[in-house]
Amino acid sequence: MVVTARAHPNIALIKYWGKRDVPLNLPVVGSISITLGGLETVTRVSPAKAGEDHFSLNGEAASPKEARRLKAFVDILRARSGRTDALHIESRNTFPTAAGLASSASGFAALALGVSRYLELTLTLQGLSEVARRGSGSAARSLHGGFVEWRKGEATDGSDSIAVPLADASWWDLRVLVCVLARGRKDIGSREGMALTAKTSPMYQTWIDAQEPDLEAARGALQRRDFQALGEVAEASCMKMVSTWLTTRPALHYWRPETLGVIQAVTALRGEGLPLFFTTDAGPHVKVICPGEAYMEVEARLRALPGVLEVLHCPVGGPARVEVQGD
Ligand code: PMV
Repeated sequence: MVVTARAHPNIALIKYWGKRDVPLNLPVVGSISITLGGLETVTRVSPAKAGEDHFSLNGEAASPKEARRLKAFVDILRARSGRTDALHIESRNTFPTAAGLASSASGFAALALGVSRYLELTLTLQGLSEVARRGSGSAARSLHGGFVEWRKGEATDGSDSIAVPLADASWWDLRVLVCVLARGRKDIGSREGMALTAKTSPMYQTWIDAQEPDLEAARGALQRRDFQALGEVAEASCMKMVSTWLTTRPALHYWRPETLGVIQAVTALRGEGLPLFFTTDAGPHVKVICPGEAYMEVEARLRALPGVLEVLHCPVGGPARVEVQGD
């Protein structure tokens, strides 16, 4: 039996930063994301040939550290299914890995879906989001397509820290233009960065306390398809997260000088009347969001900016999918 699962990455419009439970990956705040169509992780799950798990990413065997993390994740699903199958798992991304493009989100979403189907576990997308969260928090948001909320939840076992769909991809024709500003992996992963922020930033508690009104505003803006309101709250959420990075000791510098240059250009373009707003994740790239009808002009203007190596164009993506061959 061979199972192939596909999931899109997502980017948060209302950000997640910080954990209330590290092993279970439970967040201190809820978050809301948009799914990035056109970019994908494709994960193929088949029986292991040598009797032990094998993991590869983009054609290369996983490092011992990565393999341990992946095996621990697959063990959660094996324990739930009561099966002990060793698995051969090959994963490929159609976009740059680990540079703030949320490859862990699509990666763990596709892995959760592919392995659960291989082990014949019947889990809903919501149930899978609870499992995917254990691999990487933002992965919880990559099972459903469209616009997704990952609820903080209250339960200590994490059973209510799940992702729920707010609207599907057809609800609103927005485009995400990913301005790629650097190649290569980031120095400090989000897991380590969040732990340091929680420990040292005087902004951390303020960040947590200020999240609920932003979630509320974003839900309302999505429901009304109010582009301006969504843009205002999304940019504010991003900058609030960044303020926790800058006040972490030592400060977390996920941005590069070009990141700020592109953000200032986005503000200037808005001043010229173009509808667009920005967000960034824990990496240098800037994601620019605009309505479908404006994307060609916005894309042309972004391509001309200094430091922009490439612009990836993403419509709103659909849910994770799975295909089974043989039995
Ligand atoms: O889920 P992680 O550990 O990849 O953390 C994601 C953190 C941000 O991308 C910066 C914000 C978010 O909500 O996705």
